[in-house]
Amino acid sequence: MCGILGYTGNKQAAPILLDGLAKLEYRGYDSAGIAVYDGGNINIKKSRGRLKILADMTEQGDLLKGTCGIGHTRWATHGEPSDTNAHPLWSDDKTVVAIHNGIVENYREIKDKLSEKGYSFYSQTDTEAAVKLIDFYYKANNHDALIAITKAMQVIRGSYCFVIMFNDRPGEVWGVRKDNPLIAGQGDGEAFLTSDASAILQHTKHVYYFDNFEIAKIDADGSIIFYNKNGEQVNKTLSEITWDAQAVEKGGFEHFMLKEIHEQGKAVRDTLHNQDIGIRDSEIKNISQIYIIACGSAYHAGYVGQYVIEDLAKIPVRMELASEFRYRSMPLDKNALAIVISQSGETADTLAAMRRAKEHGLKTLAIVNVVGSTIAREAESVFYTLAGPEIAVATTKAYSAQLIACYVLALRFALVRQVINQDYYNKLFNELEEIPAKIDEILDQKENIREIAKKFINANDAFFLGRNIDYALAMEGSLKMKEISYLHSEAIAAGEMKHGPISLVENHMPVIGILTQSVLYKKTVSNMLEVKSRGAYILGITTQGNAALERDADFIFYIPETDEHFAASLAVIPLQLLGYYLAAAKGLDVDKPRNLAKSVTVE
Ligand code: AGP
Ligand code: GLU
Repeated sequence: MCGILGYTGNKQAAPILLDGLAKLEYRGYDSAGIAVYDGGNINIKKSRGRLKILADMTEQGDLLKGTCGIGHTRWATHGEPSDTNAHPLWSDDKTVVAIHNGIVENYREIKDKLSEKGYSFYSQTDTEAAVKLIDFYYKANNHDALIAITKAMQVIRGSYCFVIMFNDRPGEVWGVRKDNPLIAGQGDGEAFLTSDASAILQHTKHVYYFDNFEIAKIDADGSIIFYNKNGEQVNKTLSEITWDAQAVEKGGFEHFMLKEIHEQGKAVRDTLHNQDIGIRDSEIKNISQIYIIACGSAYHAGYVGQYVIEDLAKIPVRMELASEFRYRSMPLDKNALAIVISQSGETADTLAAMRRAKEHGLKTLAIVNVVGSTIAREAESVFYTLAGPEIAVATTKAYSAQLIACYVLALRFALVRQVINQDYYNKLFNELEEIPAKIDEILDQKENIREIAKKFINANDAFFLGRNIDYALAMEGSLKMKEISYLHSEAIAAGEMKHGPISLVENHMPVIGILTQSVLYKKTVSNMLEVKSRGAYILGITTQGNAALERDADFIFYIPETDEHFAASLAVIPLQLLGYYLAAAKGLDVDKPRNLAKSVTVE
């Protein structure tokens, strides 16, 4: 999920690698490292922390001589940020040295099998398992790099791009891709491999884009050869990058937020397949009550989780704003589980609230996106969301990953406590497997939302209405609208409109109704009609096939069908886009909204 760069040619590699990695710093990372082949040995330097530490360690690269090398900025997913866990990682005799973006889901199985063959492991990373698997096949196949890589690909499950050097192949750098982007850059007598073109733009704009399961070898003469997963050579079309460096950082999207909205399918898929959910079955059986504690969008994700956990696992759940919980004097049930949710893992209120829960003897389970963050380190256990670095202040992919973590816990709780059987568990889990494709289906219709957003450009206020899970969604939709487009809005439990807020409804006021819960459709529709009769402009977000609002809504956005427990993962997409396009239409700084910080580490 972070930065990858390989170089081979006729120039000193280390300065090129350090400079290229610096172009990738914007993505956020926790450690960095480079390896350079000096003709006889592969020399490696790596460190936790900023790239500057690495540059200083290597005297801006001068200490690592050689014209072939690889470099990496790490966003940890398995194994906390540390010098040892930083990449490159290597096989014990350094036959294989490699860097990796992504996740090796079955890293434990691979380590177990390699341990039986005499391998040992020095790091906590999933990557090391893959490196040593490649080493195993390399040695078992007469040092044939292509065979070693293709065989490893058959075993490794997950998302990855690897860039690899072999200590008996001077000048060669190999790359392989599955689900994580990898590009080969063609220079004049030199070649590059990178996860992000912004790292090589100053050297070349001529690139080959790896397709999934493709392998490439770049060599000291600048040659680039591609192979498919069967080891057959394939011809690729050379492309020219027409973007500028800034645009390349955003992958061609205008803003990081839009890029990250489009990365949600992958964030969902990667989080769904994270088997380290941070709580054992024996602990699940004893849970008497759950407190979900968070701030902002993390709170809204937990609010969805509350309904899903209660409905599936029949465990009572209380939602707590961290900034309130930390100061409340309330009896806490010692057999309760405190689930704290935080993208950054550094939010002061959430950290303080978690500490308070721990003081009261509660088990604390943190759902966190940043490995090794304070909340992750202080919680009794962690379920990492695997959304990768999130640059935009307004969270999108991390929120979606938090939803998935809540669903996975709800399913596990329900199964372990025998509230649901394995068949129903499998059915629901399969529904979750289909969410990423449905998110992408919604994104294909994003222009419809852009058109609607333009109609709100002169609005002064808006309401978001919903019931149950849809109310939790209304909160997130309202926050997105407020925090990036600066349009004041309010999320209201739909049934509450008549108890006062309806007095605020004026002509043409946008009211967004969220209707994904079939048992409540009719109730929310009548609330929508109540505001329409008072002049509101009503927008409905509902599931394909629900025609309840067809006649009356000014605009309806349909989301694909899914099990209603998980509908929030789909309905949130148009809500994110609505806030995004309105902010963009207003020409606002979408990625860095005024007054906001990405992580609120103060009270
Ligand atoms: C989300 O769009 C906001 N930027 C904000 O509400 C955020 O969710 C909140 O500050 C919590 O941050 P955390 O998830 O890093 O703890
Ligand atoms: N999963 C690997 C690790 O945790 C790679 C992380 C990345 O993509 O930076 O080291």
